[in-house]
Amino acid sequence: MTEVAQTIGENSDPSLLFEAGVADRPNEMYRALRQQCPVARSTSDELPSVYLFDYESVSWALHHPEVFSSAAEALSLGQDQPLIPVQIDPPLHTKYRRLLSPAFTPKAIGELEPVVRSLVNGLLDEFADAGACDFHLQFATPLPSTIFLRLMGMPPDDLPMFLRWRDDTVRPAVEPGDFEGAAAIRAAASKAISAYFQEVIDAARGKHADGLISELVNAEFEGRPLNIDELLGICHLMLLGGLDTVTATLDCMVVYLSRHPERRHQLTQNPALLPAAIEELLRHETPVMVVPRVVKEGITLGGVELQQGDPVLLVIGAANGDETVFEDPDAVNYSRESNRHVAFGGGNHKCLGAHLARLELRVALEEFHRRIPDYRIPDGAEISFSPGIRQPEHLPLIWD
Ligand code: HEM
Repeated sequence: MTEVAQTIGENSDPSLLFEAGVADRPNEMYRALRQQCPVARSTSDELPSVYLFDYESVSWALHHPEVFSSAAEALSLGQDQPLIPVQIDPPLHTKYRRLLSPAFTPKAIGELEPVVRSLVNGLLDEFADAGACDFHLQFATPLPSTIFLRLMGMPPDDLPMFLRWRDDTVRPAVEPGDFEGAAAIRAAASKAISAYFQEVIDAARGKHADGLISELVNAEFEGRPLNIDELLGICHLMLLGGLDTVTATLDCMVVYLSRHPERRHQLTQNPALLPAAIEELLRHETPVMVVPRVVKEGITLGGVELQQGDPVLLVIGAANGDETVFEDPDAVNYSRESNRHVAFGGGNHKCLGAHLARLELRVALEEFHRRIPDYRIPDGAEISFSPGIRQPEHLPLIWD
């Protein structure tokens, strides 16, 4: 048994998941918690009360929004209005999803490929000859953020401001356990985000410009224009979905590929493996560790009684390593036959940006590996991942 697994005793709390260092290599902790308590109630006052670790429970919860609601009380990020569509339950959810989907279809996203490729190469031009880079700061951060701004129709110069708001929302700089401090930072960021988007929305009214904001401002929803709270709820979510997740995923994948050169060589020698490899690395690394829900009607799951109002975390990272669903789950297997991972969630809220994310990941890894096939993390560099959405602050790489 591993060291982490040994430290989990009979009465361990599932919130161990958020202990320092766990997000660096969470799979051992996931396995121990999943095997010991597939559904567990936490005694912590500050953190959500119930955790689902096994694939069957997580998948059931994802597909039963009438029991596991996504309503705003499931997760407050300090905003005044629900994030749309992620914090809306069906049947209204289906209507918002129908409004937003056309911008995210494989066809619409496929048209962005030349733009993504040229942006990727522009970023690589900055450091490919230097023999070193901070992958997180110089590549994984600017790539999805620039694409997001373009998709929304916003000026690239506003990027630093968006990155600050993103960090204040997703990982506010406070001491561990300072929940009040974190809430205050989030609320301030949320106010600033709303004020910014309010101006952009007002300026877009009556004009037809490129980008999702202009489209939404002029769209018809249920026979009327979207109101300001709806527009802000959509923009706020796009910012969180579009800026952080692809950065985290690129970081997670490149850390894995740096530490496993033989798996990287397979991809540099045969880039056609990339789409399958991306799915497998999404499963194995699961950059978004958990998704939140709140119980709408009491239910017993895995022998644990859940009550109405209980906040729940669906630990999708743990579900993705469930040995009853994935054969030899700790192995990274590019030719895994059926890869039903839930790294993009599942059910009605399954990630709307998944095609965009896959495009960005594939083009980024294709071009990076074409130009810099042999990279490594310098000896002694410590890579420390944030919990929740797994991401390091720095990711130094070197190559000859
Ligand atoms: C690899 C990168 C990404 C990962 C791992 C990821 C992960 C997820 C997950 C797990 C959910 C489900 C949340 C839940 O059930 O509560 C989700 C939903 C969502 N994601 Fe992503 N995401 C990624 C990229 C993106 C991008 C690039 C965008 C948009 C620009 C985006 C937009 C959304 C939206 C709008 C939803 C809500 C969908 C709904 O409620 O119907 N995501 N994502």
